[in-house]
Amino acid sequence: MFEWNDDYLVGVTAIDEQHKQLFRLARRFHDAVVANKGKAMLDELLDALVRYTEGHFQVEERLMMACHYPEHEQHSSEHRDLRARLATSEERFENGETVTIQVLQFMSRLTAHITSTDLRLGDYHRTQKDAPNPV
Ligand SMILES: [Fe+2]
Ligand SMILES: [Fe+2]
Repeated sequence: MFEWNDDYLVGVTAIDEQHKQLFRLARRFHDAVVANKGKAMLDELLDALVRYTEGHFQVEERLMMACHYPEHEQHSSEHRDLRARLATSEERFENGETVTIQVLQFMSRLTAHITSTDLRLGDYHRTQKDAPNPV
């Protein structure tokens, strides 16, 4: 579960590394659930996934702005939707619910986002001469 696959590569190294890290964090959370780790540990791991996701979306949004990406608005609105889903899972978790399925659904939506929306950004970025690197 939450296995990285090189088919997900978008061709921008820094972005690809962040995507891989997102999968690692999701896997860590899942493994901790399976291993029946306590709430404090799960809380920490879910929080790490939420924070990393936020940082990653900001990196992509800055990159889109910096290279005047024409699909910036649509791409960012997908980020908003994904953020909201993750925030809901975190809220449910804080209320004592099991959110493994929601995190799984989030990762599956994120994977769909990576393989279509992020991929188009990667393609655009490669065609731009002197395009700035993600920061
Ligand atoms: Fe991404
Ligand atoms: Fe994205």
